[in-house]
Amino acid sequence: MKLCVIKGDGIGHEVVPAAIRVLRQVLPELEVHYAPAGWEQFEKSGSALPAATVERAREAKAVLFGACSSPSYPVAGYSSPIVKLRRLLETYANLRPTRYLPVPTARAGVDLVVVRENTEGLYIGDERTADAGDTGTATKRITRYASERIAQTAFRLAISEDRRRVTIVHKGNVMPQTDGLFRRVAYEVSRAYPDIETDELLVDTAAYWMVKDPTRFDVVLTPNLYGDILSDMAAAWGGGLGLAPALNLGEEVAIAEPVHGSAPDIAGQGIANPTAVVLSASMLLRHHWNQPASADRIDAAVHAALSEGDYTADILGTNGMSTEEFTDIICRHLG
Ligand code: NAI
Ligand code: MG
Repeated sequence: MKLCVIKGDGIGHEVVPAAIRVLRQVLPELEVHYAPAGWEQFEKSGSALPAATVERAREAKAVLFGACSSPSYPVAGYSSPIVKLRRLLETYANLRPTRYLPVPTARAGVDLVVVRENTEGLYIGDERTADAGDTGTATKRITRYASERIAQTAFRLAISEDRRRVTIVHKGNVMPQTDGLFRRVAYEVSRAYPDIETDELLVDTAAYWMVKDPTRFDVVLTPNLYGDILSDMAAAWGGGLGLAPALNLGEEVAIAEPVHGSAPDIAGQGIANPTAVVLSASMLLRHHWNQPASADRIDAAVHAALSEGDYTADILGTNGMSTEEFTDIICRHLG
């Protein structure tokens, strides 16, 4: 079993080693290959995602990605490495579950999964400026091909996890040629799944319900951008960004990657919550390596660790445990 590990930037360096420790405990034979990507790498070498890193990821077929820092202003030659990697490796489905975890910041009864299209929408990187920089334009691309395969993923996931409803989230009333296509194809796919209830929400209304009553949701099927935003909202109900896992899944390759970013406000202090990345590694075992029993073991150890009531500072505020101390507890529960 091979794993390409990209720590990235900021807390990526701190939380990824926790997931490696946990993975090694359930998979002692795991072969780990480290590869660079991110802002630090860009500053060092002029490339945020070296070709050798993409090759290593392709070859390993499984990637664990920490987080990368991306500036919110244009930098010549730089674009977000994770967005590019998802596209290059055709990991077209981004699964972002939010389930109740035993922490005081989580909401009881929440059990949903955002199934986010991962290769197109507004994130294709086709942006330009005119008017000496005073007008910016971005292309939004939605295709039948990508909409169909992500819809299939959502309905198959609903069946395999015994879920009852898929909610299509879109803004087809304002963008009928793009989101309208996504919606139409999703309904076409739904016909093959009569046992799953299908409904739809405009994305603004979906955001309202995500705040008002997240238990309303089961599987949330969305284009790229809305899934990015709604999954961070959902993460708040799961106890916070430090606990929110994700998996980018394709036919060949999978990238485990927490929902959170590089958290520059706490980076370097050793206090980041490793739970999100550990649960992301568990998703890799479950959905890509087909090892549900090992995934169950990790999930149970995380639950048991959180149930002890000692957390990192993101949960309780001050006087939290360190990343390493909390990882020790998870590893102890893994036995
Ligand atoms: P962020 O997710 O890094 O942080 C948001 C807030 O959540 C911060 O207060 C942070 O301290 C906290 N937080 C996040 N993860 C945590 C953890 N594991 N433990 C404890 N607290 C945690 O989002 P932000 O600040 O908007 O973005 C920072 C950088 O990360 C940006 O450069 C952005 O581009 C990048 N980013 C990268 C992603 C990726 O590589 N997949 C995803 C999202 C953002
Ligand atoms: Mg995001």
